[in-house]
Amino acid sequence: MNKKLLGIGLASSLISLGFLTVASAADPKPKDVAEYRQSVYTIIGWNFKPIAAMVKGEVPFDAAAVARHAQYVELMSKAALEGFAKGSGPDAVKHTEAKPEIWTNWDKFETAMNDFQQEAVKLTEVAKGGDEAAIKAQFGKTAETCKACHKEFRKD
Ligand code: HEC
Repeated sequence: MNKKLLGIGLASSLISLGFLTVASAADPKPKDVAEYRQSVYTIIGWNFKPIAAMVKGEVPFDAAAVARHAQYVELMSKAALEGFAKGSGPDAVKHTEAKPEIWTNWDKFETAMNDFQQEAVKLTEVAKGGDEAAIKAQFGKTAETCKACHKEFRKD
């Protein structure tokens, strides 16, 4: 690449970087944060349900489908915490099932999220292995982490 072209390339990458900085520097509104996390959980639920149905025997077991859904759950388990930024609790939105205890007991909440992430990562790994019994067992462990957090931090 000659110098002139390099200059153009550099300038355009700086422009696109500038774009990114502006986008991420803007503080999202608490309401948007809350809606973001609700969307994340919608995606988690959307992908967890079909796995549950297979584990319960309601639909035929399909290891490849489990693996595909598990990947989304894993990815979203890593995205969820951002959706609980300070100030995005019940005061920020009309409709939320998030309890104020999330923010007054943050360490415990974060631990519950880490437990979920760890089990979700394992679920993807086990699902790729294709062993039905192992997948069912790991599904159970992952579901326990959902329940544990909902019990303490989500309104019924
Ligand atoms: C660390 C805590 C935590 C974990 C782990 C967790 N959740 Fe939740 N979940 C919440 C909270 C808090 C809400 C309420 C969010 C709100 O309304 O603002 C929620 C909401 C939801 C919703 C409703 C989404 C909506 O707004 O329509 C679904 C579905 C859901 N979770 C499924 C799951 C599943 C399935 C798992 C496990 C695979 C899971 N969650 C793991 C805390 C958690």
